[in-house]
Amino acid sequence: MKEKVDAHIKEIKEFVASSVEEVEAFRLKFLSKKGIVPGLFGEMKNVAPEQRKAAGQVLNHLKNLAQEKFDSLKNSVESKDTSKDKTLDLTLPADFIKTGSRHPISIVRNDIINIFSRIGFTVYQGPEIEDDWHNFSALNFPPEHPARDMQDTFFIDKDPDIALRTHTSSVQIRMMEKVKPPIRSIFPGRVFRNEAISARAHCIFHQVEGLYIDENVSFADLKQTLYYFAQELFGTDTKIRLRPSYFPFTEPSAEMDISCFICGGKGCKVCKHTGWVEILGCGMVDPNVLANCNIDPEKYTGFAFGMGIERTTMLKYQINDIRLFFENDVRFLKQFEGAI
Ligand code: PHE
Repeated sequence: MKEKVDAHIKEIKEFVASSVEEVEAFRLKFLSKKGIVPGLFGEMKNVAPEQRKAAGQVLNHLKNLAQEKFDSLKNSVESKDTSKDKTLDLTLPADFIKTGSRHPISIVRNDIINIFSRIGFTVYQGPEIEDDWHNFSALNFPPEHPARDMQDTFFIDKDPDIALRTHTSSVQIRMMEKVKPPIRSIFPGRVFRNEAISARAHCIFHQVEGLYIDENVSFADLKQTLYYFAQELFGTDTKIRLRPSYFPFTEPSAEMDISCFICGGKGCKVCKHTGWVEILGCGMVDPNVLANCNIDPEKYTGFAFGMGIERTTMLKYQINDIRLFFENDVRFLKQFEGAI
């Protein structure tokens, strides 16, 4: 028995395999049910009882040796098998790395910030949760003004003093409380209104507010600033039109239309066949508002304007449903790839 086992040990040690099939042949020969090792264990019953212990040890050694050899043959053959490893084909074209794209609201907000920063406007931001003073009272809203109604404003914990800001005009007050004139800043940010969600309206949207306070600021300065802005954002053919309007915090107040950049003013679906589209609200800062912020209305005047970024983006890119901005459907967002 000893000689037989020694011959097998020699054979096992010298066995070489270069393919999966050869490794399998090794397993069949030594380790399978009908293979050499189980066969030798079967012969144990013929061994004299006093020699059994020694024979058992020899056979166990053989069995372990065969198992270890099998494992190492299998490993070396598998690591050499590169047929499944496609990444090694250096002739294949490289994978195209997909980058994300900016959200259209960010694109237009950045455009607006850039346009105003070129004429000296800095960016300033205020909180989204506001008190009554900054969102309404300091802006000259009378106590019974309908905008203060629960229907329009989201209040926090039914506290009539704390609400989500309904417009970025609240940041005008924060700025004027903190910085004395001259002031030339814009305030981009999110605003919240208790409105039913539809294709045209959402309860969350974005605005950009502008504020210019100095000595001798006139309505002509407001008009020229907005004309520059409209031409920069919508193209040099753009004309503007100011219609009288009303806001509690500006006097006089106006709404600005731009000539329809789709039809050039001839009339189309976008401008509802009027040739004009409304783009923002504006006016001269009401003297009461300046006084509320401890700025002398006898010495200083200024203008303010505010626009919705969603509305501006919808016009610029001809998007017909405001809800698309909040759904983050990649098929929608992908269309803005490459824009910055
Ligand atoms: N806050 C106004 C709105 O939300 C817009 C506005 C801002 C009007 C500044 C005039 C001056 O509709």
